Amino acid sequence: MKIDVLTVLPELLESPFNHSILKRAKEKGLLDIHVHHLRQWAVNDYGQIDDYQFGGGAGMVMMPEPLAKAIEDLSNDQPFDEIIYVTPDGQRLNQKISNSLSLKGNILIICGHYKGIDQRIRETYVTMEISIGDYVLSGGELAAAVLVDSIGRLLPGVLNDETSALFDSFQDNLLAPPVYTRPAEWRGKKVPDILLSGDPKKIEDWQYDESVRRTEERRPDLLDGD
Ligand code: 6GU
Repeated sequence: MKIDVLTVLPELLESPFNHSILKRAKEKGLLDIHVHHLRQWAVNDYGQIDDYQFGGGAGMVMMPEPLAKAIEDLSNDQPFDEIIYVTPDGQRLNQKISNSLSLKGNILIICGHYKGIDQRIRETYVTMEISIGDYVLSGGELAAAVLVDSIGRLLPGVLNDETSALFDSFQDNLLAPPVYTRPAEWRGKKVPDILLSGDPKKIEDWQYDESVRRTEERRPDLLDGD
């Protein structure tokens, strides 16, 4: 899979893409990430990529032409399966969306900054608009990092134990069960006996029941989801 990211702050994406799971995905050749500075496609020698908004109001808007040029240049190499704009007014990201995006070949993620991007770019090129939750970030970069992480870890071969993503929270609209490690008793608190029983069937049943219980308690909305 190849992911291109268009941003005015590439530095913000360096660390998330170069550590841990995403680093491993790249090293294994399973995920190719290219971060592009929008300034490359600036309309003048000042490197201008934003301008005042029509109608007034505080804050700059990212101009259409640099974005259009960038999208067209990057599409020349290969057409994108999705062009995603990360924005607080987009569709709220969930595991189902990440699962389906992990099956794509090439995606472009556009990070907005300031007041966002000119509406005409959204209408002309963007195929999906995604928000990572109901709160406002200073720009799309951290949201793009969240999105890429959630997709990258799903690519076959990225996680050590290939089955492990299957048991993540949300994979069946259920939260993950509680987990424990050694010691079996810590400061008087014991690990549930079943987990020490060595009986895989019993353990699996217990984990499932705990998942359901936890979901009912904390996120009942997930249980009546699709
Ligand atoms: Cl995608 N961008 C910004 N700026 N804020 C957000 C967001 C995205 N998702 C939630 N808040």
